[in-house]
Amino acid sequence: VIRSVVRGCGSYLPARMLTNHDLAGMVDTSDDWIVQRTGIRQRHIAAAGEHTSDLAVKAAERALAAAGMDPQDIDLIVLATATPDNTFPASAVAVQARLGITGGAAFDMQAVCSGFVFAVATADSMLRAGDFKRALVIGSETFSRILDWKDRTTCVIFGDGAGAVVLEAQELAGGKADRGVLGAKLRSDGRHKDKLYVDGGPSTTGTAGFLRMEGKEVFRHAVGMMTGAITDVLAATGTTAQEVDWFVPHQANQRIIDGCAHKLGVPSEKVISTVAQHGNTSAASIPLALDTAVHDGRIKQGDLVMIEAMGGGFTWGAALIRW
Ligand code: ACO
Repeated sequence: VIRSVVRGCGSYLPARMLTNHDLAGMVDTSDDWIVQRTGIRQRHIAAAGEHTSDLAVKAAERALAAAGMDPQDIDLIVLATATPDNTFPASAVAVQARLGITGGAAFDMQAVCSGFVFAVATADSMLRAGDFKRALVIGSETFSRILDWKDRTTCVIFGDGAGAVVLEAQELAGGKADRGVLGAKLRSDGRHKDKLYVDGGPSTTGTAGFLRMEGKEVFRHAVGMMTGAITDVLAATGTTAQEVDWFVPHQANQRIIDGCAHKLGVPSEKVISTVAQHGNTSAASIPLALDTAVHDGRIKQGDLVMIEAMGGGFTWGAALIRW
């Protein structure tokens, strides 16, 4: 069988950090409130002129270095983002050009916070179909650009950043086939589309707009949707939650992360959390967390890793990867 095997990962955070204390000087909030409700302590903010594709290129270069690969080895770029540089072309082609790649295909994927899981599943399908050999799967966001910095209910939650993995199609047989992306489930339900959205766009207002969120409604659905997707992936791959070495959830907020672990009966030591340091970076949060855990030595080759996310749409999903 053909499997999409992870060859390397990388990430990038903008230099500027914004702490909860900084925010308390901007809106009526406090470090205590933000930490208690979300677990977030700080987030990184892109500099003026630093775009989603710039963050993506840096994460991609680090992922390629970790994989020991050259940009020319890549023939597919799938970039998950809800904050593209421009309405079009896709930011993925800006990344492609900056890396000096002229062959293959590059496109953006829009599933907001679930974008990275959708991108991994999409790239995996394309690699297994035999049409592409090596994919850069990237999540990159500059949510700071679509935040209403006067709205304390949203501006304290999000941050900027990027992460990337290199997936390679490998023909594997027998016991060796238990590697790479082993299964994925993707879901959407547009009845919830007004609970987390941006109030602008090219076809409606002609403006970029600001993020709007019914926080309680998002919270109410998040745990059930994500654990449902995880349960489906476990069933489809004949795996138990206990066999999974690491759970790497979308870093929305610590209470959602804890709620999922509790519902699945998973000890918190097996759950990677970077939300305190990064905030919610939407599609970038999972590859940022993956890269953090690979570099600090927690995720090792051979480990079974579950990635899971839920976000605007609503969209949600999970994927199981043998690292
Ligand atoms: N600082 C201080 N007070 C605040 C702030 C703030 N930043 N924001 C809201 N408040 C106030 C509210 O005005 C309200 O005051 P009131 O009681 O006088 O009206 C009070 O705090 C409680 O507000 P709630 O909205 O009820 O607070 P809640 O406990 O629901 O927490 C939160 C809000 C953190 C947004 C929570 O609903 C949540 O985590 N939701 C999930 C949202 C999420 O994770 N979104 C990420 C995007 S989706 C995704 O990635 C999955």
